[in-house]
This record gives sequence, structure tokens and C-alpha cells, in this order.
Amino acid sequence: MLEEVKLNELNYFVERLSREELVWLNGYVSGLIKNSLQAETKGTKISGKLTITFGTETGNSKKLATEFATKARKLGLTVKLASLDQYRLSDLSKEERFITVISTHGEGEPPAAAKKFFNHIHESRPDLSKLQYGVLALGDSAYPLFCKAGEDVDVQLERLGGKRISSVQKCDVDYEIESHEWFNHLIDALKNGVQASPIPAAVVKHTGRKTYTGKILSKVNLNASDSTKETYHIEISAADLVYHPGDSIGVIPKNPSTEVESIIQLLGVDKNKVVQNKDHDYSVVELLTSKLSISYLPERVVGKYGVIINQSIPAIRIDLIDLLKIYPTQNENQVEEVLQALEPITPRLYSISSSLLAHEEEVHITVARNCFQLDSVTRHGLCSNYLSKLPEGSSFEFYIHKNLQFRLPSQDKDIIMIGPGTGIAPFRSFVEERVSTGATGRSWLFFGDQHFSSDFLYQTEWQDYIKTGGLTKMNVAFSRDQIEKIYVQHKLLHHASEFLEWLTNGAYLYVCGAKSMGLDVENILLEIISIDGRKSEEEAQVYLNQLIEEGRYLKDVY
Ligand SMILES: Cc1cc2nc3c(=O)[nH]c(=O)nc-3n(C[C@H](O)[C@H](O)[C@H](O)COP(=O)(O)OP(=O)(O)OC[C@H]3O[C@@H](n4cnc5c(N)ncnc54)[C@H](O)[C@@H]3O)c2cc1C
Ligand SMILES: Cc1cc2nc3c(=O)[nH]c(=O)nc-3n(C[C@H](O)[C@H](O)[C@H](O)COP(=O)(O)O)c2cc1C
Repeated sequence: MLEEVKLNELNYFVERLSREELVWLNGYVSGLIKNSLQAETKGTKISGKLTITFGTETGNSKKLATEFATKARKLGLTVKLASLDQYRLSDLSKEERFITVISTHGEGEPPAAAKKFFNHIHESRPDLSKLQYGVLALGDSAYPLFCKAGEDVDVQLERLGGKRISSVQKCDVDYEIESHEWFNHLIDALKNGVQASPIPAAVVKHTGRKTYTGKILSKVNLNASDSTKETYHIEISAADLVYHPGDSIGVIPKNPSTEVESIIQLLGVDKNKVVQNKDHDYSVVELLTSKLSISYLPERVVGKYGVIINQSIPAIRIDLIDLLKIYPTQNENQVEEVLQALEPITPRLYSISSSLLAHEEEVHITVARNCFQLDSVTRHGLCSNYLSKLPEGSSFEFYIHKNLQFRLPSQDKDIIMIGPGTGIAPFRSFVEERVSTGATGRSWLFFGDQHFSSDFLYQTEWQDYIKTGGLTKMNVAFSRDQIEKIYVQHKLLHHASEFLEWLTNGAYLYVCGAKSMGLDVENILLEIISIDGRKSEEEAQVYLNQLIEEGRYLKDVY
């Protein structure tokens, strides 16, 4: 972020520019950054091999690893570039120079594509005494376990005998400049000869991200009143929006005010008292409403709470309010310490279900109100409940979370989209975009939910698209409309030969929705490739891997 003085100067200058001048300036600054980063790679040549790997969920690590590979090749290195899920694990102990760019997902976990590698280094424990390595860890400081997966990999590679070329670099959401500086530094270290493992220095420049203030234009429950579900289609307007089909919005929800009031009473603290958190001053009520997570505290926070109030508390997840009722704080110092021990509210993502080409300055989302039972009482998830309760006309903040991995192919390519439940969201965006641009490729949509009459999300829109040619084909599976359960994967199986024909003709396959559904679909996919494609199990897996490598099998599951 810029210092305040510089920011004011910049704002003063920028406010006077027209929209066209701003667009030009944007290109000019990008060019400056690119040139300076390219320039740093010029210089003395270096020879030998370098393996560059990446573990990515939304494409950032892949993008950086690819840029590093280009730079390294220009410098004279022989580069092998691979995704960690395609990387042959048995090669690791033979490597001499190995770098990995890896992000953190879930709760401090590696991306799905990096899990096999992660487990291999932690469980098989290969001897890496020949290895010189570097780790670039991507993350987001809004999450409590910032860059955890990258840090874990860095520490484990050293434990296995590897020697760091360069210290691990943790990068926040605005990673472009820092990551290239790290890579340039690593190349310098290679040129000068790696001396010894430097102590990992977790130096991070925390950067800001662009946030938007969105106004809710409309909010409609897409489920009928007799459904067991509530799924809200929310239309939001915001100025200067930039996003692509496949992206999500990130929201940091607010905690319910009644719960916050009760917590303040239990803590016995003045709600207007000013306290510091992450170098900012907040009133207690502001902190507990908008910054700190108070529900379903992770065990590590409950553990810290026990230490603060000097009591032994079982290692369980629990809401702060219940913790305070069972194990009250005893004095003001403890209250301050508890406020410091609480972690930030983590962002929640919602796939964008609109295209900017169809809705200028708008973003639409499809939010299922999360419901669960606790002690026989129905409770709701924090963010989905927050969004579903926001009234039309109200405003909230969000950011765009890009997904470079989940993008539409060129206009002439066929697409197959599998999106049951809220997994349908990005495909509404895809179809809107393709209709707006007059794409010529065919499109086939699979949707599923519980009941046709109450849960057919965006039913009339799909029917219109089928009539007007925006959608070529649609198949639906309503699991509870008959005795035996029918899901989207059963519909795939039913249309196996045509499905395989589309794939063989070069169609791109997209899957979005629940993780478990993604696994079920993948199993059926392998079955179809094997049986209808007349392949052995191994050959079917090879075919699927080929689709992944060609970027024709794309998943966004959560
Ligand atoms: C890339 C991506 C795209 C997504 N797209 C969509 C989308 O388009 N639409 C959509 O609806 N969702 C989407 N999601 C999911 C969404 O981000 C949220 O995870 C979801 O809305 C639930 O969040 P929540 O805050 O409502 O629930 P949370 O408060 O996070 O609760 C989640 C679960 O935690 C447990 N839990 C929470 N509190 C307690 C407690 N006090 N005691 C016991 N258990 C508890 C329950 O099992 C509950 O169901 C997406 C996620 C990702 C990663
Ligand atoms: C669902 C989800 C969970 C995340 N969890 C974490 C986390 O626990 N810690 C962290 O530092 N970053 C977390 N991130 C942020 C990503 O690591 C960050 O966006 C990164 O740039 C993604 O890189 P990739 O596109 O290569 O996967 C999370 C992102 C998402 C979408």
C-alpha cells in the first residue's frame, strides 16, 4: 500500500483524469511493471537444470511458475515446468534444483492438486540431501493460517535434507512484484553458488486489495415455499466492476448484533472502549461485529483461551458466547488478551452468476442459506445467513476473487457444464457471456437438485436459452422425485456415448458445486471413458489426465 501522503497525491492526480485517460494509465503502469521485471532477468547467463513446479487451485501459482520458467529459459537454464499433480514424485530425490510455487486453501491446507506431493514429503520422507530448493508461498493475510501450506513444504524439504537456495517468501494477494523479486534473488543465489540454508525469513509486505461497495438491487429466493432449501439470487450494483465468468466474489460477513451485545455483556467491557487490533484502533463493538470471528472457534483459539483464563478446557470447537458462559473471564486484562487471541472473520466466496456483458456494473450471486442442526436447534451459517438477510437497497463490501483456472474457451469450442445446486452459478455467467458474444460452440448443461417443482434454479432462463439456442442441450436430475435417488452423474451415464462424442470432438468439461459431487462425477467419468471408450482403467485415467493437461477438464468444487 502507498504511504498516506503519496496516496493523497495520487488521488489528487487521478481524480482529474477522464475514463479514457485512466484506461491508458492502467496500461502504462502495467507496462512499466512488466518491463522492470523483465529487465531484471537480463544479465549474466547461467547453465544447468531447474525444475519449477506449482500447486494451484485458482491459477495464480501456475501463472507465476510459468513466468519464472520463461525467465529462467531466457537466462540459459534447462527448465522442467510441471503442476505438482503431474510431477513424478520418485523424481524428487534425484532433483538438484527444485522450486515450487504453492498456495494455501481450505483451512491452511495445500490445493487439491498439491495434496499427493504434500503427503509424499510428509509421509514417505524421501532423502533429499542432493536437493537445492526454493518455496514461494501464495496466500491471503485475511485468513488466519497465512501461507501455511508453503511454509510447511519449506520446513519439510529442509527436514528431509534439502538446502534452501533462497528463504521462503510469503506473498499476499498482491503478489506480482514481490514474487518476481524473490525469483530474481533466487537466480542471483544460484549464480553465486548456494552457500548454506538461510534461516527462513517470513518477510511479508501486506498489501491491500481492491474492495467494492455493492448495493443490493434485488434479492429473490429461487426455491418454492415448500422447498427444504433457500437459495437467493442476489443482484448487486457496484461502480467500475471488473470480473470474468468463472470468478467469485469474496465477502467478509458481519456477526449478528444480538450475539455481539451478549458477548460484550459477558465480557463486562464498555462497548465503546477503543482497542488495537492489527495496528488499527477499533471500538470493542466494531471489532466484535466486523473483524473477529466469534462463532465455531477453532481448537487452537479455544486452547489459547484456556491458557488466558488459566483453566483446562477440552479441545473442541465452540462459539465464543458459550465459551464465555461456561468459562467466564475473571478480569479486564484477560478480556484484552481474549480479544487479541480471536482470529479474523474469514472471507467466504460466492461464484459469480452473471456476465458484465449482459449486466453492466452489476454482479449476481447465488447463495444457498446454510442450515445445520445443533442440539436439535436449527442454526445457520454466518455469511450465507448474513447475505440472505441483507435488505434490498442496503450495501456491503466485497472483492473479486479471480479464478484463472476456470475460464471459458474460445468461442468456437463446445462446453459441457455440470453444476448441481449452487454449482449452477458460474454456468449462468458462462451462458450469458457466450450469448452476448455470439459464441458458435455448442453448450450442454447438467443440473440437479432435490425436486423439480421447488428446486429448479433459474428454470425459466434455461428454458428460454434452449428455445433461442443459447443452450444446445440440458439434462436435469431431481434426486427426490422418485424412490431411487437420481443425481447428475446418473444423467451423464445415461447419455454416455453422446457425452464421449462431445469430449472426443474437443469439448471442454466444467464441474462446479459440492466436493463430494465432484468426486462422484469423476468416478462416473472414468467409467464412461473406460466402458464406452473401450479402455482399461489405467488408459481411462491417462485419458482423463490428458484432458487435465489440455485444460479441458476444469473443476471448481467447495
Ligand atoms: C470457490 C468457492 C465458490 C463458492 N460458491 C458458492 C456459491 O456460488 N453459492 C453458495 O451458496 N456457496 C458457495 N460457496 C460456499 C460459501 O463460500 C460458504 O462456504 C457457504 O456459504 C457457507 O458459509 P457460511 O458462512 O454461511 O457458513 P459457516 O458459518 O462457515 O458454517 C459452515 C458449516 O460449519 C459448521 N458450523 C458453523 N458454525 C457452527 C457452530 N456454531 N457449531 C457447529 N457447527 C458449526 C456447520 O456445519 C456449517 O454448515 C463457495 C465456496 C468456494 C470456496
Ligand atoms: C477457499 C479458499 C481458502 C483459502 N484459505 C487460505 C488460507 O487458509 N491461508 C492463506 O494464506 N490463503 C488462503 N487462501 C488464499 C489463496 O491462497 C490465495 O488466493 C492464492 O493467491 C491462491 O493461489 P492459487 O490461485 O495458485 O491457488 C484461500 C483462498 C480460497 C479461495
